[in-house]
Amino acid sequence: MIPEIQPSISREEILCAETQGRPCGLVVFGASGDLARRKIVGSLFDLFRRDLLSPHFYFLGSGRSEFSEQQYRQTVRESIETGDIDPDAIDRFLSSFYYLAGDYTDAAFYASIRKRLGELDQTHNVSECHIFYLSVPPMIYGSITEQLGASGLNQCGKDVCEYPPRLVVEKPFGHNLVSARELDGKIRRHFDESQIYRIDHYLGKETVQNILMLRFANAIFEPIWNRNYVDHIQITIAESVGVEHRAGYYDKSGALRDMFQNHMLQMMSLAMMEPPSSFDAEAIRDEKVKLLRSIRPLQIAGPWNSDIVRARYAPGSVNGVKVQGYTQEKDVSKNSKTETFVAAKIFVDNWRWKDVPVYLRTGKRLAAKRTEIAIQFKQVPHSLFASVGLEEMPPNVLVLKIQPDEGINLSFQAKRPGAKTCMSTLHMNFNYSDLFGSEAPESYQRLLLDCMLGDQTLFARQDDVMIAWQLLDPILEVWSHEDFPLYAYSAGSESFPEADHLIESDGRQWRSLHHS
Ligand code: BG6
Repeated sequence: MIPEIQPSISREEILCAETQGRPCGLVVFGASGDLARRKIVGSLFDLFRRDLLSPHFYFLGSGRSEFSEQQYRQTVRESIETGDIDPDAIDRFLSSFYYLAGDYTDAAFYASIRKRLGELDQTHNVSECHIFYLSVPPMIYGSITEQLGASGLNQCGKDVCEYPPRLVVEKPFGHNLVSARELDGKIRRHFDESQIYRIDHYLGKETVQNILMLRFANAIFEPIWNRNYVDHIQITIAESVGVEHRAGYYDKSGALRDMFQNHMLQMMSLAMMEPPSSFDAEAIRDEKVKLLRSIRPLQIAGPWNSDIVRARYAPGSVNGVKVQGYTQEKDVSKNSKTETFVAAKIFVDNWRWKDVPVYLRTGKRLAAKRTEIAIQFKQVPHSLFASVGLEEMPPNVLVLKIQPDEGINLSFQAKRPGAKTCMSTLHMNFNYSDLFGSEAPESYQRLLLDCMLGDQTLFARQDDVMIAWQLLDPILEVWSHEDFPLYAYSAGSESFPEADHLIESDGRQWRSLHHS
């Protein structure tokens, strides 16, 4: 058993600043879809229960499916009515839910939304604060924003506008650099950057937000957060699930676009950016962009001398259950060349990180679900204990654990009681759930609340999306050639030789997916 030291926290030490959302009307396009029912509505209900929704909040679902308001409320009720929930609370929550059906390309639909918003603003005493959430396939983002613009819903009705209408968009933000620019052009014809909230749900996860606190609210980490002390960084998003029911989307996307372009690069930039001048959205986003701009272009010369490797899962077994390979999954094209795994080595060419490799990997159907950022420090320069056989000291590793547990783990060496020079690796480990009594809130809660408050800190900015595509476009181009290798790994495995080679050729190893 690895010894663990349990931290504790006293209530007095908790400093909070959580504000209730502003009075507003949230219009969700695609309101009967999977994302709206699973994530958006559930998170709103949790905000409501935590008293973080304004009593003047209302929800206007819209979509192509015909529902009466009563029927829509019933579908919402079914998606939140799990476990021990007070039925009165659900009734109160649902009393501000409304629904309007229509055709997204028809101007008349937007005229009716406008009219309905006017009525609901009066009923709920909301002073023109509207959020439009696009929970629809990206190919219709353009037509909806066009119609919102044409109907004037993108602007305030008043001369002085304190809370201009906001637009929330879900990834993917484009398919490559050209399509991302095109999409951005369409949206920005009608919405200013300050009105656009590009959701990356990883930025709403507690531990991802905690990166900023850990780095900039403590004096002990920043002095060692650089090339003088850090040997390398590993960022992992491993999933044990396969493509599930989303092959229609995923087979055209793949791991590079689905996870790497957004979640992985966002986490990397928060972990490695310079200290911002303030805890202000623009200051933080400027630093993230500067970091992304400093990434050295990846080398993609050939299978054994590339900085990036792709693969897809073959049949295997996950947690003892036999599963099929990617190409046998429902709705996957038989000629598919889509990758379900990507591993890469990245260098950031700046003063702080020059020559410190960052190894990133993400994949589906791996041995376990695990998301983490591991900062591995350099070994001690000289071992005092070499004479008693302890020549190689295990390095200190600071792990920011994001999934399945959310918390932090710091490993260090200590003397074992008894024998004169017997050493152990100890883990100072904390889990949010142990300390704060419950699981961390679903990431959409934070993001929805921030949008209501007009705080864009945890949303991707246009320039950082474009830089990510600039970095990945050459890779997508090379991968589009038929003969570029797409390796296979058995479902349920930890890794495979070509991914291992990427890190082992530098004398390092991937962290196990089963670490605590
Ligand atoms: C989504 C991807 O953005 O993130 C999915 O489209 C992936 O393919 C999911 O499964 C993982 O999110 P989480 O929060 O479960 O790690």
